[in-house]
Amino acid sequence: MPGDERFARDLRGERDERPLGTRSEIVTGPVSDWATDFSHLEPEWATGFYSILAGLRERCPIARTERFGGGWLPTRYEDVAAIAYDTERFSSRSIIMSNFRPPRQIAPAGGSPPISSDPPFHHDARRLLLPAFTKTAASRQEPATRALCHSLIDAFGDRGVVDAASEYAQHIPMRVIARMLGFPPGDGPRFRQFVEATLEGINLPPEERIERMTALFDYLLAQVRDHLDRPRDDLTSYLISAELHGRKLAPEHVTGTMALLLIAGIDTTWSAIGASLWHLARTPSDLERLLADPGLLPTAVEELLRAYAPVTMARLVKEDMHWRGVDMRADDWILLSFPSANRDPSVFDRADEVVIDRQVNRHVAFGLGIHRCLGSHLARMELRVALEVWLERIGSFTLADPSAVTWSAGQIRGPRALPLRIG
Ligand code: HEM
Repeated sequence: MPGDERFARDLRGERDERPLGTRSEIVTGPVSDWATDFSHLEPEWATGFYSILAGLRERCPIARTERFGGGWLPTRYEDVAAIAYDTERFSSRSIIMSNFRPPRQIAPAGGSPPISSDPPFHHDARRLLLPAFTKTAASRQEPATRALCHSLIDAFGDRGVVDAASEYAQHIPMRVIARMLGFPPGDGPRFRQFVEATLEGINLPPEERIERMTALFDYLLAQVRDHLDRPRDDLTSYLISAELHGRKLAPEHVTGTMALLLIAGIDTTWSAIGASLWHLARTPSDLERLLADPGLLPTAVEELLRAYAPVTMARLVKEDMHWRGVDMRADDWILLSFPSANRDPSVFDRADEVVIDRQVNRHVAFGLGIHRCLGSHLARMELRVALEVWLERIGSFTLADPSAVTWSAGQIRGPRALPLRIG
């Protein structure tokens, strides 16, 4: 579709004049009390994650903060589930809790459909993507994923210690989604910067965030331009030619969804693979069991997803209301902790233990309700294959230096440095 005018304005850099949304004061520094001053951006969140959540579940199940312009942190399974299902009272207009709230006019589509969309728009935006993310579609990516995992391990050479987070786990989702979107495979390091800009740089001044987001959208527009010139069989060409309600998608819908697919699959799956390897490195009994019985892997993968669920999402309260004992104000944030729900002892036996052959496991690592993860088949395939190839090739391994392991703060939690002794 060369010369398609729909993208001309964006390609010339003439962006819409949109309302700017609201900004609140940036507050950083140590948390005084997790019940009244929580912050997912402080280093203690990363280091004390599960004990913070368990403490709150016991003494203050819906915690409060005045940071980020005000927000709530429900920690019990039943509260997390109720909010995830209640799209009438909680909006997905922004799912990243920060000092910036996008304008209300951005609803119902939001900036990155369907994750930022509310009903009824959400339904159609999601339906468009379903065929690309079925179980069958995910299994088509399996041979290339397996080959990639082998090549990453080949690159370790004969070193006895490798960083499984930066040399293995991170590359797998990056390369898989680049392939699906039809982006150059060598652009991986740039994706890393985009992910950082979107998910991690959130306490930066808004101008700086906008600058970083502009770099992402400039990259995506360059990819769109390339696909307009040379359409091919990938997700980018699919989105450019897709129709909704008899019309082609708005350019910002195309780029917003591309941004979502790029961002949603990388840190999340990277974190899940890294956390699983971390667990096995420090739990020889589970590692030996899996090495002896690889058939247990699919069950173990579900348990590792439950115990180390990497994704916390956000919502915005639509109107002032009294909700389960607290007074919520319109535009208060909700930090929707799927990891905390997954460790709720009123729902899971031995909630804080990893039971790799757990039979009944209705975990919510992929969320609940209309926004439940669209990429769950793909993520499960990547996680299973990454672990299968690792176990087959590496066999036994241990933490090389437990004190050198670092975990990310923020809404996506996983190891960012993970030195493992493999020889
Ligand atoms: C282990 C890896 C992953 C985890 C734990 C995970 C988790 C989640 C969660 C919790 C949600 C719900 C968001 C909400 O309620 O606001 C979600 C939504 C979503 N995920 Fe994933 N995800 C993973 C991997 C992926 C991958 C690989 C992709 C695709 C490239 C993907 C694409 C999406 C999309 C498009 C949505 C939005 C769905 C909608 O709004 O209808 N995810 N994910």
